Amino acid sequence: MDVKKRIDELEEELEKELEKVKTQAELLNVKSRYLGKKAEISSFMKHMRDLPKEKRPAFGQAVNEGKERFASLIEKRQAFLKRRSIEKKLAKERVDVTLDAPDFRVGSRHIINQIVEEVEDLFIGMGYTIEEGPEIETDEMNFEKLNLPKDHPARDMQDSLYITEETLLRTHTSPVQVRTMLEYGGKKPVKMICPGKAYRRDDDDATHSHQFYQIEGLVVDESTTMADLKGTLLVLAKAMFGPERKIRLRPSYFPFTEPSAEVDVSCANCAGEGCNICKNTGYIEILGAGMVNDYVLAASGYDPEKYQGFAFGVGIERIAMLRYGIEDIRNFYTNDLRFLRQFKA
Ligand code: PHE
Repeated sequence: MDVKKRIDELEEELEKELEKVKTQAELLNVKSRYLGKKAEISSFMKHMRDLPKEKRPAFGQAVNEGKERFASLIEKRQAFLKRRSIEKKLAKERVDVTLDAPDFRVGSRHIINQIVEEVEDLFIGMGYTIEEGPEIETDEMNFEKLNLPKDHPARDMQDSLYITEETLLRTHTSPVQVRTMLEYGGKKPVKMICPGKAYRRDDDDATHSHQFYQIEGLVVDESTTMADLKGTLLVLAKAMFGPERKIRLRPSYFPFTEPSAEVDVSCANCAGEGCNICKNTGYIEILGAGMVNDYVLAASGYDPEKYQGFAFGVGIERIAMLRYGIEDIRNFYTNDLRFLRQFKA
């Protein structure tokens, strides 16, 4: 038998079979048929014994070379199959980067939070700290230590939501004045603001909300005066409503400040001329303030003989409503995206 010729024939056969092979499993079958123990080429070695000695090396070489060629054909097919499966996968998973992306929505900060952050930045820049206090507050912190004993008529100014006899949802952020002073132990100067939620038993309407935001401010040291208060609030008013704004202080009453003031900002709409927004007065009320009452200093551990300072409390919704001409406070809490998106920063 002409082994070389037979191997060539087998090689041709193998090539043809490999062309039909589509999977790894099929490939393994073909490999075992052409190179396995029972493969024809493997049986050739047995014939070696029948050959004269001098022909054996050439015979052996021919068989080995044949096996190598078979193996390389199989390997080639395997590489081809692999490549093709990757190509198929790529084609299937192809992404058309020129297509429009699906419309997916990115959230944004609520306008109330945006204003809170603006005010925080402003006051941090002036050396203030940011403080926090609980929304569920004790009657003692919310009222008593702020010079509002139980029978005080001024408690009616703030309709409260009580939880028990002694706890309520804080009606303002002023209890954080007391908490901060107590924490400071009556010794260090205080210079803080506290943004946070407050609650009142109001029927919600265009200008009332049972939940709203305030920012409390408190400065206590040995020399801070009403002039410092006015200067500070002017900075705040200009930052919130524009550099042309002026402020004015009107005498008022809060149990926790003495003297107390209602603070107005000149109307941004008419620049003080008088219009329907400021009800022809040229000014709009924006906050309450005053010099910290001696009673409050003492109740919070500060010696009123040595320390003095100012406090103010401003409503954030009110600032936002004036700044953007929003007529209904409920807009801030009904979460209508058409409203909220207008303030996307
Ligand atoms: N706590 C007062 C209010 O909610 C505002 C205020 C704060 C007034 C600090 C004076 C000083 O109405």
